[in-house]
Amino acid sequence: MGARLPGVERTFFCLKPDAIEKGLIGEIISRIERKGLEIIALKLVRVTRDQAERLYEEHRGKPFYEGLVEYITSGPSIPMVVRGVNAIRLMRNLSGATDPSEALPGTIRGDYAPGSPPGATIRNLVHASDSKEKAEREIAIFFKEEEIVE
Ligand code: CMP
Repeated sequence: MGARLPGVERTFFCLKPDAIEKGLIGEIISRIERKGLEIIALKLVRVTRDQAERLYEEHRGKPFYEGLVEYITSGPSIPMVVRGVNAIRLMRNLSGATDPSEALPGTIRGDYAPGSPPGATIRNLVHASDSKEKAEREIAIFFKEEEIVE
């Protein structure tokens, strides 16, 4: 499973409902392909409350938690598994800073995500895992191993 060649790793990436609502599916997938990363699993789903709670368990209890669960379950999302050398770091770089007002131009969030009002849940178009452990945990929330084309 996962890395066969040195440095090759897999990560979890998800287009959130605002990305789909804005018609950014093709644009975002193009950026992943242009970077030379491989999409090895992908589906269109309505994230369930249970999946949202598992994905965001580290944020439970924070003031924006309920809004976050509401946001990710508010419409269709596209979870995927992306593979490549340094895929975790590369997908974080392509995504840009969590807060769109700090995300640099040239990143997905920097180019397409508007600022969020203070105190509101940040709507930032995409999610990208921040470590190997999280990537594997998050992949397992959305995919069975047999759905991943390694
Ligand atoms: P994501 O990268 O999916 O991880 C957790 C999400 O919580 C994040 O994107 C934002 O959508 C949201 N988020 C993180 N920090 C804050 C914050 N300080 N205020 C509001 N929303 C946040």
